[in-house]
Amino acid sequence: MKQPNKIIVIGMGFVGLTLAVFLASKKFNVICVDTDQNKLNTLVQGSTPFYEPGLEDALKNSLKSLSFTNNLSSVDSADIVFVTVGTPPMKDGSIDLRYIKSSTKQISEWCNNNHIQPVIVYKSTILPGTFENIIKPILKSLSENTVVNPEFLREGSALQDTIHPHVIVIGGKEKPILSLKRFYQRVYTRKTPIKTTSATTAELIKYANNSFLAAKISFINTIANICQRFPDTNVDDVAEVIGLDPRIGNLFLKAGPGYGGSCFPKDVQALLSLTKRLGTGSDLLNAIHKTNIQQAEMVLKLITKHVKSLKNSNISILGLAFKENSDDVRESVSISLIEKLLTRKVNIRVHDPRAIDNTKSIFNNKVMYCADVSDCLRNSDCAVLLTSWKQYLSLGKEFSKMRNPILIDTRRLLANKKLPIKYVGLGIGSKIVR
Ligand code: UGA
Repeated sequence: MKQPNKIIVIGMGFVGLTLAVFLASKKFNVICVDTDQNKLNTLVQGSTPFYEPGLEDALKNSLKSLSFTNNLSSVDSADIVFVTVGTPPMKDGSIDLRYIKSSTKQISEWCNNNHIQPVIVYKSTILPGTFENIIKPILKSLSENTVVNPEFLREGSALQDTIHPHVIVIGGKEKPILSLKRFYQRVYTRKTPIKTTSATTAELIKYANNSFLAAKISFINTIANICQRFPDTNVDDVAEVIGLDPRIGNLFLKAGPGYGGSCFPKDVQALLSLTKRLGTGSDLLNAIHKTNIQQAEMVLKLITKHVKSLKNSNISILGLAFKENSDDVRESVSISLIEKLLTRKVNIRVHDPRAIDNTKSIFNNKVMYCADVSDCLRNSDCAVLLTSWKQYLSLGKEFSKMRNPILIDTRRLLANKKLPIKYVGLGIGSKIVR
């Protein structure tokens, strides 16, 4: 393949948009394809449809190298086509392949009509066997030039993770692997490990990676709940020490209200559903998933333990996004907790530096949205901190607004602060007064 310059990215979600902006910043000519014209209109103006640190500025700076269309057939050719469409969850835990199938059909027709053979790269998260059984039969001979290239970026640091990936995995046939490898070596001047595998192994690596990280979180949440029952214990001390064991590592050992987002909950369940289809099932994957659900219930238990009567009580929710530096509320524990509290007739006030708009589209006027924390805590019977926003670290005097000053801190952000409130840290056993 000649030096690729013209690149198509199909699907303007977190992965696709970040990749498109990054490649445009490297002066490639990038054509962004998405079926959602509203989203494209936003992007053309240099605005991102979601919050991601640094991405909007990077988009604005690269607009010259980007073009946008909802119609692949309006493009005449490309050297590389990246597929980054979503693979959302189905009710039974498996993944919905409708966008993979429709974009693959479009690519196939487009390549055949234009007599071109670009390298086709699947970055979407797809279960093992999807390339062989679903994509290949649609692409036919084009599949010889197709690879699976899973993405490992995190929301909240998507741009940085794209600029500095810790690893690149490319699965497929030798020829397209080589082309993409050369492309990445040109893009990434810093040495990044590149692992080449079969397409199916590449698909599995993505699920193994996310499921393992989810397992670490469910594990430390289990330890947190043990700590909760023993005076003078703190899960962060346990995590710190076990994290020093190089066989364990210190990352992803932050106990909390359970993992959320569009990836871990979906991917663990999808892998579990695959094991069921394979006839083995998996107690381990099932336990990771169940433990995560129990952890969200644990937060509700802590509230009911400390608030005498939930009905007509005032509860303040600090943090709505599933993680800090994001406005994404998909599978956020805050959202499921609010749903449960609403059924118990609780008056709810919420605060989040970024995720208010996305929350409004779920709850409309059922909860009170607050632009500042003091307002959120006014007359409150209990505050629940659920997202590790940096600005919550400096909270103090705001708690004086509460009617009954109790803080349930599921992330232990304020554990080391002396506050004139009843402090309940998830994973911290009560203090022994000596
Ligand atoms: C995750 C993976 O980390 C990425 O590598 C992957 O590319 C992505 O899924 C994906 O498949 O697209 P993401 O869901 O964006 O990324 O965010 P994480 O930082 O992994 O956090 C996920 C959830 O786990 C959050 O709710 C977070 O609060 C929780 N978490 C994370 C903990 O409770 N404790 C931790 O120690 C770490």
